Amino acid sequence: MEQIEIRHRIGSLTWQQIRDISNCEPAFFYEREKIVERIDALRRSMPGDLKLAYSLKANPFSALVSLVIDQLEGADVTSYSEMIEALNAGLPPAKIMFAGPAKKPMELHAAVALGVGLCVESIRELALLAEIGREKGTPARVLLRLNPEISLTGASMRMGGAPTQFGLNMEDIPEVWKRLADPYLEFCGIHIYWGSQCLSEVAIQEAQEASVDLIESLAAHFPNPPEILNLGGGFGIPYFAKDTALDLGLVGRNFAPLHDRLERRFPQAGIFLELGRYLVGEAGTYICNVIDTKTSHGVDFIVTDGGMHHFLAASGNLGQKIRRNYPLQLFPSSDRSDTGAERTYEVVGALCTPIDLLGHRLSGPIIEVGDMIGIGCAGAYGKSASPLGFLSHPHPREFII
Ligand SMILES: Cc1ncc(COP(=O)(O)O)c(C=O)c1O
Repeated sequence: MEQIEIRHRIGSLTWQQIRDISNCEPAFFYEREKIVERIDALRRSMPGDLKLAYSLKANPFSALVSLVIDQLEGADVTSYSEMIEALNAGLPPAKIMFAGPAKKPMELHAAVALGVGLCVESIRELALLAEIGREKGTPARVLLRLNPEISLTGASMRMGGAPTQFGLNMEDIPEVWKRLADPYLEFCGIHIYWGSQCLSEVAIQEAQEASVDLIESLAAHFPNPPEILNLGGGFGIPYFAKDTALDLGLVGRNFAPLHDRLERRFPQAGIFLELGRYLVGEAGTYICNVIDTKTSHGVDFIVTDGGMHHFLAASGNLGQKIRRNYPLQLFPSSDRSDTGAERTYEVVGALCTPIDLLGHRLSGPIIEVGDMIGIGCAGAYGKSASPLGFLSHPHPREFII
């Protein structure tokens, strides 16, 4: 049975400080030091001149975006708002890559006017970009987002190497080369995104190798030398008890020869990985308060003022095939060490639905009203990936500490 971890602090904040700062309401706390350490670890393990882009979809909280982007070379954005967030964080437009299968005309107009790179996902989008470029008298900066015809396993979410709404099909590519002759389309590079949340070093290496092979196989058709070669990311984090963290040293050693190959062939190109959860996921803790404790049909329930409306992923309702517990923590309001009693709990949220479950069959000491429950791995796909309006409770605040 999984255990609730007892914690007394988040970073240097004590139980009382957490309560005071959060106004006794559910909140997300992101630890600056952990994010900086993670980026440093990547720099140490990966080839020296590898460029890193932050995927804002993981967490678009402004203070966090600024902290991350200050240390990286680029951003992957998927909406007008994310694009503006990345620009406001100080990134030059040429370092921003705008991907997504349903970019609206107004988003394309803004991106072209700003000089942001657009990861093209269909022939129709490419045609529209040429028109917009012509209308504005400035070429649209284009990266080709490719959906390779290779089967890649190992990622828990696949966005390439499978039938998906993402990217250009390989059979569209001859048409793409013809259209790139248009003076209002500027070929900037290639974007390949094969999947997310991969904890296998081998699977990451295979995907990267397949991506490098594909880029090399297309190189003869490039209308000009590419400025950006973005190989995606997919680095996963250990959410669940049986997960093992990636061996970053091994990932880096596997990647080095592939990076060298690209660098030799395309010396002028920036070689990018784009990462979201790996940079910020483990730096976050979600906090909510124990409002009630009750026993129902012999099962002990801890009822909190948090829930799936704040942190959908932790409830298992954001695409998980089998529901598993995120790391659950108890921030006790008083010393609990000498009770000796261990109990088994269901930890639930405030919503009127049984799927609002934050922890299933967890063992821990006596839990009391006034304690706080924490959930780890809350730095990515937390608040912004949750149905905040559901049942009209207050939205959780976010703090960077
Ligand atoms: C195109 C693209 N880039 C980057 C990401 C970020 O993934 P992660 O947060 O797992 O690094 C995703 C995730 O869906 C994506 O679709």
